[in-house]
Amino acid sequence: MQVTVKAGAIEQEKTGAAVVLIFDGEKPGSLQNRLDKALGGSLQRLIKQGGFRPTHGSVALIYPESRIAAERVLLMGLGKRSGFSLERLRQAAGKAAPYLRSTGSADIVFLLDGYGLAPEEAAQAVIEGSMLGLYRFLVYKTGPDPQQEKDVRKITILSEKADALGPLRKGARAGEVIAEATTMVRDLVNAPARDMTPAIMAAKARALSQTLGLKLQVLERTQMERLGMGALLGVSSGSVEPPKFIIVEYRGGAKKPNIVLVGKAITFDSGGISLKPAQNMETMKEDMSGGAAVLGTIQAAAMLKLPLNIIGLLPATENMPSGSAYKPGDVLRTMSGKTIEITNTDAEGRLILSDALAYGCRYKPALMVDVATLTGACSVALGHEAIGMLGTSDLYKEKMRKAGEESGERVWELPLWEEYQDYIKSDIADLKNTGGRAGGVITAAALLSRFVQNYPWVHLDIAATSWTDKGRPYAPKGATGVGVRILTQFLRDYAASTK
Ligand code: BES
Ligand code: MN
Ligand code: ZN
Repeated sequence: MQVTVKAGAIEQEKTGAAVVLIFDGEKPGSLQNRLDKALGGSLQRLIKQGGFRPTHGSVALIYPESRIAAERVLLMGLGKRSGFSLERLRQAAGKAAPYLRSTGSADIVFLLDGYGLAPEEAAQAVIEGSMLGLYRFLVYKTGPDPQQEKDVRKITILSEKADALGPLRKGARAGEVIAEATTMVRDLVNAPARDMTPAIMAAKARALSQTLGLKLQVLERTQMERLGMGALLGVSSGSVEPPKFIIVEYRGGAKKPNIVLVGKAITFDSGGISLKPAQNMETMKEDMSGGAAVLGTIQAAAMLKLPLNIIGLLPATENMPSGSAYKPGDVLRTMSGKTIEITNTDAEGRLILSDALAYGCRYKPALMVDVATLTGACSVALGHEAIGMLGTSDLYKEKMRKAGEESGERVWELPLWEEYQDYIKSDIADLKNTGGRAGGVITAAALLSRFVQNYPWVHLDIAATSWTDKGRPYAPKGATGVGVRILTQFLRDYAASTK
């Protein structure tokens, strides 16, 4: 996608489609009046005759028939000003862009002047929304498909305000980088498990590292054995695919402390010997979404040249049943030395994370964040609207909450009180890997908490948000790419506050 910001007036701008924002209940601004005049009053007529009500998410198309240079004008409703947010703008753009693709527009121009919007934030939201809304996963479609809509190739933000161009450019660039990283994550997650094995994930991380100049290390099974990563090795023992422990380092800040990001990378979760039901099991290719989100976040941080040191850790393996698989009743010895009794082999995420978090402590991190499709219970608790958040650092949980609000990837905190530790006490080992049905999100996090020592730690459970069966605003069916936007926002805020 080509993203540009340029100075100019809409009447002269040659484009497939010009998008005009309209707030419900507001008098037409000067831009709208000018366009209306140029279009011979057809814009006002459309609104007056009730052909377009500017509720949030509504769109109406006008064909200017050569009265202006644009081939189409799209009215994009934003609802009432009182309910406005950047998320609304993102959603509206996420609807407008694919709609315009369906009408045959090869490019889109957005006009953001004159609405009192902060130019940088508005530009970022519009670019993110439209690029993410246009996402398609076509790798496995054999073409050419005559039904398939042509791609939108270019998105422009046009402005007549000289002083807005700088902020618009900055916002558009951030939006482009973040949307591209999110797209990369969606591609990784949508890929079938046979084409996204731990080895292939490691290869993807290697390619990314070469492009971005990152340091990459991939630990093989023998190294995991030497490190004593018995939990990760236990989970992987049922699979013929060798496990990989992927370490990606972005060094962007000379004297800055380490931030460790850990991402669950189960490339397929069958449940193992505690086999999952067949229904919807195909979606368990998404169980590496946390790892993918960590890669995407590091990509965005590197592209934005954030002055930070970020280490990404991805324990990658399949969880499969077989004659060599780990079994309920087994006891695994983790890298930290603590032992865990297995009560259910389908609670594998917390096991591989226990070794990854223990490894993360080696970096003496100022903060450790893990991202994981950890528990089905997360959607029971929160539906598909929020990431479950728990952790030990009130400061960073609060900053994460803010980053969630700003980025449109919201979190909701659950408690991690001492009492929950009782749920995962084992009779024969130090811990057990499940805590019963009650408080499933929390007991999973309680186990993780035992492997972070005293380092500030935030856990994000993305099990309910990383995949969408029905599609969401600016996320078509399938992988959402969740995690990149909140973490990138968090890191940008972190960089700004530790300058
Ligand atoms: N990967 C799953 C969690 C999951 C479920 C992610 C649905 C995305 C959508 C995880 O490994 C798992 O199986 N968790 C179990 C834990 C249980 C056995 C304690 C669960 O949630 O059922
Ligand atoms: Mn599982
Ligand atoms: Zn899993």
